[in-house]
Amino acid sequence: MKVLVIGKGGREHALCWKLKQSKRATTIYCAPGNAGTAIDVLNVPIEAEDLRGLVQFAKREDVGLTLVGPEAPLVKGLVDAFQREGLKIFGPKREAAEIEGSKVFAKELMRQAGIPTAEYRVFHSSPDAENYVLSREVALLVRSRGRSTLRHTLHCRTAGETLEAVDRIMDPREMMSPGVQVEIEERGRKRVFSAREEARDFVLGRPLGLVIKADGLAGGKGVYVCDNLRQALEAIDQIMFRRVFGQAGDRVLIEERLDGREVSVLAITDGRTIIPLETCQDHKRAFDHDEGPNTGGMGAFSPSNTIEPAMMEQIEREVLVPTIHALKRARRPFRGVLYAGIMLTNQGPKVLEFNARFGDPETQVLVMRLKSDLLDLLEAAADERLSTAEVEWDPRPAVTVVMAAAGYPGAYERDRSILNIEAAERIEGVKVFHAGTRLRGDSTRPREARIVTDGGRVLNVTALGDTLEQAQAKAYEAARTISFEGAWYRRDIGNPPRDQPRPPPP
Ligand code: AMP
Ligand code: GLY
Repeated sequence: MKVLVIGKGGREHALCWKLKQSKRATTIYCAPGNAGTAIDVLNVPIEAEDLRGLVQFAKREDVGLTLVGPEAPLVKGLVDAFQREGLKIFGPKREAAEIEGSKVFAKELMRQAGIPTAEYRVFHSSPDAENYVLSREVALLVRSRGRSTLRHTLHCRTAGETLEAVDRIMDPREMMSPGVQVEIEERGRKRVFSAREEARDFVLGRPLGLVIKADGLAGGKGVYVCDNLRQALEAIDQIMFRRVFGQAGDRVLIEERLDGREVSVLAITDGRTIIPLETCQDHKRAFDHDEGPNTGGMGAFSPSNTIEPAMMEQIEREVLVPTIHALKRARRPFRGVLYAGIMLTNQGPKVLEFNARFGDPETQVLVMRLKSDLLDLLEAAADERLSTAEVEWDPRPAVTVVMAAAGYPGAYERDRSILNIEAAERIEGVKVFHAGTRLRGDSTRPREARIVTDGGRVLNVTALGDTLEQAQAKAYEAARTISFEGAWYRRDIGNPPRDQPRPPPP
């Protein structure tokens, strides 16, 4: 069978590599692919969102099964387009992919189905969203000092009321004498401000736990976890006023901020049967010890040491099963990979987000551990006979370390030559998946062409080991072997969170 994989990242290279091991796969195409897929399989120069081009190619080449990596083509209706032409494809149709494409849709579905998630409100305009943020309780006392016309203490319940009180006391039109000051008391502690802006600044810096999210797809960047009012107002401004994500910011969600450990749970489903994949976890923040900005993921490991089997069962029961059923009831049956980002809170697991696809870089560690034939599994899901499928896993842990380009996650450099990938792969148990790479030179001879960087996350250096420590050690040894100008990576991929001791080796 000819197989087509759509996308060009590390996830797609990993899927191509695994599909190539299937006895039933004759040719594997990747559209548009990267240098790694050019070397391991065959690249096709069609972009992932060129729906018509992909359909035409699949028909012309008689592709037996297509697999979609990224979310954008799913949300655009690629699966619908393939199915209209009678082409077999793995992934959810447009209406089911809304669970990732619209956070508002996902939240409403969860609310209706009683699936645990953070409390939230939806807003259609920035003034409404700002007013809501300003209506949050801050409980401050505001007094005037000096010769103000306001003599009494103002008990301000909300941030908005406090800002108003500051403005009234320090209103330049009302200030009779220049010596007026404002005193703000917070839980017994008093501060005195002589300038209005300083007082406002103090109020805006009050801690608050809110998360502001753009409704639509924003390439993983549409979520702002805010520590204070200023950040929350800034997030609303970015999304709704400056419209940095375009239409994706037509609506915003404001959510209560959850605390706990984060886990990713992925499951393959045909809309009826659900097969959860092995546990895994990614590291989203850019720098060691989970510091710095959020990224698409700087590494991953599997199995996750934070999910006990009982917790996994609870997540299946309380999240995966009711979600698949709710989508079915809504006449949006979901077929493909459902990926739940979950926070393990004191009140149990709560959903942070859903994705309608394989995770990146979670897939890179999962395929290393998958022993079963991936093509059989995907085809069974596409044919709605997943109940007959069996999945076998390698018990050994896997780790993937993302090697990034200088500047990532900000603006980064491209076109740096990458050296020693083959040497790294000679380390037993190591596979280097390409993410942001491309070939320079004669593309008809991929093995001889030069490999250069072409993205922020460049390589996913992946290793299996007998223990997590061994997998880590191998992945890092391989990463040290590879070089390109400006290369950097986190040094703590696979380490447990700092508040959690490392479990003893089995
Ligand atoms: P999302 O794209 O919704 O997964 O959000 C990206 C990241 O933001 C998540 O991986 C979490 O780290 C964080 N996040 C999202 N929602 C919340 C929330 N309600 N509370 C705390 N953190 C959150
Ligand atoms: N690793 C996060 C994601 O795939 O969305």
